[in-house]
Amino acid sequence: MMNETKFKKVAIRAALRSGLFIKSSVGRIETISYKGRDNIVTDVDKKSERMILRDIQAAFPDHSILSEESEPKRGTSPYKWIVDPLDGTTNFAHAFPFFSVSIALEFNGSICLGVVYDPMRDELFYAENKNGSYLNGKKIHVSKTKKLIDGFISTGFSYGMKKKDRNVGYFRNMLTRSSAIRRAGSAALDLCYVACGRFDGFWEMDLHPWDSAAGKLIVEEASGCVTRFDGTSYTPYHKDILATNGMIHSQMSKILTRK
Ligand code: IPD
Ligand code: CA
Ligand code: CA
Repeated sequence: MMNETKFKKVAIRAALRSGLFIKSSVGRIETISYKGRDNIVTDVDKKSERMILRDIQAAFPDHSILSEESEPKRGTSPYKWIVDPLDGTTNFAHAFPFFSVSIALEFNGSICLGVVYDPMRDELFYAENKNGSYLNGKKIHVSKTKKLIDGFISTGFSYGMKKKDRNVGYFRNMLTRSSAIRRAGSAALDLCYVACGRFDGFWEMDLHPWDSAAGKLIVEEASGCVTRFDGTSYTPYHKDILATNGMIHSQMSKILTRK
């Protein structure tokens, strides 16, 4: 019990500190490098990561860590932290105010804690296994929208032109079968928006564990549903994700699995 409280405290403190640092760095990027033609990383991603990993390593030196901008660290304990130090880097680089910090803790292969912080709105989402999901301390719940045609949904386009192209077909099909679609640019926040009922559903292909690990638990603990496109069980190590309020899940899954 004591450790669970400590896990949450360390994760929230790291997310808030790094988030405020990111906010203070908007418009002050020093270096940008390219991981791919459309995939950038800034000095702020790396500095944010250093801040988070320093806090985690100081508190839990034997834990494993999987973080986007570093080599994985293998520890001796069954706990593993999964970190995206800046989710929505492209938005951040353009001062488009929709990005976040995402920190999850996995125990023996399942996510037991998820924290996502949006520094521009000062919104802190978190969830612990079997303990509900919260936004700034208030319990949250997914929406009650029953039909996809009334649904306000979102998606993301992963890096790489071919991969982006593969999502265009799904986008077109969803567009004519839902009320509206947004492409906001931070998968971790997209998932939190499903959890608190702002979005009714979200799908993306080719995600990485750090994009979705915290958000998956936050959706599930808010009584939402997270699976792969075909409805089978999802882990952050899968590429395709479908997260909804549960009620429009099969309607979206049908579109994403149509041959
Ligand atoms: C990206 C964002 C974006 C999603 C991409 C991710 P990054 O993460 O979550 O919304 O569409 O697939 O890679 O690179 O900004 O951490
Ligand atoms: Ca990311
Ligand atoms: Ca990132």
